[in-house]
Order: sequence, then C-alpha cells, then structure tokens
Amino acid sequence: VTTTHAKLMLRALSGEITERPPFWLMRQAGRYLPEYRATRAEAGNFLDLCYNPKLAEEVTLQPLRRYGMDAAILFADILLIPDALGQPLDYLEGEGPVLDPIRSAKDLSALNLENIHTTLEPVYETVSRLSSSIPSECTLIGFAGAPWTVATYMVEGRGSKDYVNIKKWMYGDPVGFSTLIDIIVDATIAYLLKQVEAGAEVVQIFDTWAGVLPDNEFRKWVLGPTKRIVEGLRRHHPDLPVIGFPKGVGGNIISFVEETGVTAVSLDTGTPLDWAARNVQTKIPVQGNLDPILLVQGGEAMENRIIEIINRMSTAPFIFNLGHGIIPQTPPEHVGALSKLIRNGSTS
Ligand code: CP3
Repeated sequence: VTTTHAKLMLRALSGEITERPPFWLMRQAGRYLPEYRATRAEAGNFLDLCYNPKLAEEVTLQPLRRYGMDAAILFADILLIPDALGQPLDYLEGEGPVLDPIRSAKDLSALNLENIHTTLEPVYETVSRLSSSIPSECTLIGFAGAPWTVATYMVEGRGSKDYVNIKKWMYGDPVGFSTLIDIIVDATIAYLLKQVEAGAEVVQIFDTWAGVLPDNEFRKWVLGPTKRIVEGLRRHHPDLPVIGFPKGVGGNIISFVEETGVTAVSLDTGTPLDWAARNVQTKIPVQGNLDPILLVQGGEAMENRIIEIINRMSTAPFIFNLGHGIIPQTPPEHVGALSKLIRNGSTS
C-alpha cells in the first residue's frame, strides 16, 4: 500500500507497514509525570483542568516534550459527555468519578442534548490550539467514550464491579435503556465532529467495559452504537480514521472489526498476539498491547516483551501502545526507555 501521508501514525492507519511502528500510550498525560501534577494543582480540580484550554493543551504536550510520541491525544475525559448533558459530575480524590445516577427511563428527562457545545466549547479550543502547537510529524487524536462505557458511569454513578444497576435496566427495560444509548450516540457524534473540525486527525472510541456483556447484548449495546457513530462521522468526513478499543471482548473483537467500520482496533493486554495477527491484523491495522504493569516494572522484563510485540506484529500495519492506560506508579524513566527502544532498537 502506498499513501501520501508524511506522518508515521497516519501511514500505519492507512494500511502501510512502516519502517518502525508509530507509538503513543493511552493516558500518556497523567499523574506519573511531576509536571502534570503541578499543572493539575494550578488548575484546581480535574474538571477545571479539562475545561481550561491553555492548561489542557499544556498537559497534552508534556509527554511529547519528554518522549516524542508519534501521536498526541487530546487531554479531556470520557465523562465530559454526561456533564454536558446536564448530569452532575465530580471527581473525588482517591475514588474517581462520581455522578448522580440515572436509573430508569423516567430519569432521562434530566438530560438535554441541545446545549452540549456550550459546555464542551473549551475542549474544541484545546484541540484547535494543539493542532498548531504539536510537532509537525505528530498526529492529533481526539476521543470519546463509547456509549456503553459512558452509560455504565451514568447509571452506576461511579466505577462498578458487577454492573448490576445498568444490567437490570438493560435486561428489564431494553426499550427505555435504548433511549439512553441513543442520546449518548447523538451527543458523541456531535462532539467528535466538532473535535475533527477543530483539527483532530484521528478519533479513538474507548469502550473500557465492553467485555462485561454476553454476546447478544454486546451486539446491541457495543456493535450497533459504535457502527452508528462511525457512520455518523463518515457522512461528513468519509476518510476519517477511527480507532476502536473494545476492551476485554475476546473473540467478539472479530465481529467488532467486521461490522463497525472502524479503521483500526486497539488490543487489550490479554489478547494473544499470534491469534490477533492471524484473525484481526489480516483485516485492519491493530494497536496495542503492552501490559501497563511492565511499564511500572521496567528493565529486561519490559524490554523483552516490547521486542516480542514488535517482532510479532510488524509484518502488517501496527501501532505500538499499551493494553490499557499508564498507571500513576509508573516511573517516568521507564517510558523513556520504551521510547528509545521503539525508536532506535535499543534503550541507550
Ligand atoms: O492521556 C490521555 O490518555 C488523555 C486523557 C484521558 C483521560 N481519561 C484523563 C484522565 C483519556 C483518554 C481518558 C479516558 C477515560 N476516562 C476512560 C477510558 C480509558 C480507560 O482508562 O479505561 C475512562 C473509563 C475514564 C473515566 C475516568 N476518568 C476514571 C475511571 C477516572 C478515575 C481513575 C483515575 O485514573 O484516576 C478518571 C480521571 C482521569 N482521567 C485522570 C486522567 C489523567 C486522573 C485524574 C487526576 O488527575 O486526578
């Protein structure tokens, strides 16, 4: 395959086998970096940081300055959509996001799709600033949460272990529940279109909790909504690269790739490389899947696995990434070693 792109990331996404894999890391901006913690303290709370274009731009650029990733990901959060829809949201220290839960169809009247851009405008300004401030060889990624994963937080009101409230609604009143999913689909299309108009070159859809559904429900609440988002985006931007990340879905990733229309798919840490090379990478470019805990460990264990992943996956279009986000305990110098190894083939 030959393309006209100069950027490594866009070349891989267009189906090219590149001289080395482009790399970026989920949660590459975050608490493992002292400069992030300083900017976050300056902003006040996490939401204020997300809605402050200057500071959100700054934290997006921080990992690029240190490590020169091939892509920058907009600094924001998947839960800005419920916030913009009018569902009160807070991030508690040491606990994560907390929302006033929506538990049934009668609670849906509290959500308002009309005004989301009023709340989200600062995010578009962050994208627009980044599109001129990132290095010319770097690709700008916008993102949103997938409707299922965003809905888990909206209904459970926080992170969950068993998803009992959302599943009870989904099984007990699928028609009412589909109204919630439809609202998130529409908001997500509008949100991502604005990011693209502001300069995002690629978008990634994070479906962190797609793996908790049985396959018939996976089809209804993951495949269908993701497909509608991809179609909604492509109606306006036929060539827009879209990366899907259906985490924890095992063999269901095959129907995800065949039916949603995504350009590329991100593999979680548990996906077997050989299996993915044969069954997924033969269809579309893949991204992934280093265990984020190897980035905490560093040294030989990390380096050996990085080399193994690159060797196994580089005979077809491949983007190096983690299987899930960087965690706060990660020593920054281990990210430096990873960057050197991918770029130069050695850590020195
Ligand atoms: O660097 C990047 O990847 C871009 C920014 C980004 C954040 N969250 C910043 C963030 C992205 C892409 C996300 C996605 C996100 N947010 C997901 C999907 C991917 C995943 O990690 O599973 C989910 C499920 C969320 C929801 C969310 N936001 C949770 C559960 C939490 C609390 C857990 C935690 O790590 O603290 C957040 C907060 C959050 N989002 C932080 C960051 C940097 C930490 C906030 C802080 O600074 O205190």
